Amino acid sequence: MGLLDNKRALIVGLASDRSIAYGIAEAMHREGAQLAFAYQGEKLKERVTKMASKNFNSNIVIPCDVSRDEEINELFKQLNAHWDGLDILIHSVAYAPADQLQGDFLENINREGFKIAHDISSYSLAALAKAAFPMMKDQPKGGAILTLSYLGSEKALQNYNIMGLAKASLEANVRYLANSLGPKHIRVNAISAGPIRTLAASGISGFRKILAYNAAVTPLRQNTTLEQVGNTAAFLCSDMASGITGEIVHVDGGFHAIITMGENAEAV
Ligand SMILES: NC(=O)c1ccc[n+]([C@@H]2O[C@H](COP(=O)([O-])OP(=O)(O)OC[C@H]3O[C@@H](n4cnc5c(N)ncnc54)[C@H](O)[C@@H]3O)[C@@H](O)[C@H]2O)c1
Repeated sequence: MGLLDNKRALIVGLASDRSIAYGIAEAMHREGAQLAFAYQGEKLKERVTKMASKNFNSNIVIPCDVSRDEEINELFKQLNAHWDGLDILIHSVAYAPADQLQGDFLENINREGFKIAHDISSYSLAALAKAAFPMMKDQPKGGAILTLSYLGSEKALQNYNIMGLAKASLEANVRYLANSLGPKHIRVNAISAGPIRTLAASGISGFRKILAYNAAVTPLRQNTTLEQVGNTAAFLCSDMASGITGEIVHVDGGFHAIITMGENAEAV
């Protein structure tokens, strides 16, 4: 018996087998969930369709650029043609223009970068939740929504810049959505994952250094894996977590819990 038997999950944000969404899909598939996928655009169609069918036994693969309301509406229209209800929504999506993810925060921030980062990385969670609601509201055991955040929402981190603001907004979004959807038996949580080498992460300047540093100093002395995030996601979206909502769960080997002393050593 799996943790997610009889559950139907829509996963938004699968781009490759290195995506955090892939780790979540693997764990959810293993735990018995039926999966559907939304992909960003034509460029990803073939790859996502292949992965869905070969690895996750799914033929529900629907395009959706989350910056476009009509595509979000069409996503749920198409999903509804396959399924009459939805138990789980995974939001594993973020984007900011590359020039916003490097160098000095103040020098590089601009209005357009701010708008894009917040629209795609935070607003889209509420937009998807709103569009998913009609399919999620009458599930016998309630629904679960999960998004992905990062420590840059809580602390200023070099190069993460505008995305730190967008993740802070995303985490507030989780709390407001949890309060709004709780009475309707839908839980909303986030995983704040440690750094993992993915396509999105490669857009952050100096990411290789962040990985090496984390592995060296994090309490568990290891980098976070897709499997660790996937397993936590499966738990948070299962009935085992029925009392948890509005929560940001760190899956980062404990890095968020410590103060490290090495970063600015050359300045001492
Ligand atoms: N990799 C890390 O170190 C790390 C750590 C913590 C949190 N996260 C978060 O995890 C989530 C997934 O990122 P990932 O690291 O797996 O990278 P990824 O590149 O595999 O996934 C990012 C996804 O966002 C999608 N996306 C971007 N713009 C979109 C749009 N307009 N419409 C629809 N989809 C869009 C991409 O298509 C892609 O599937 C992101 O929210 C990211 O911030 C990543």
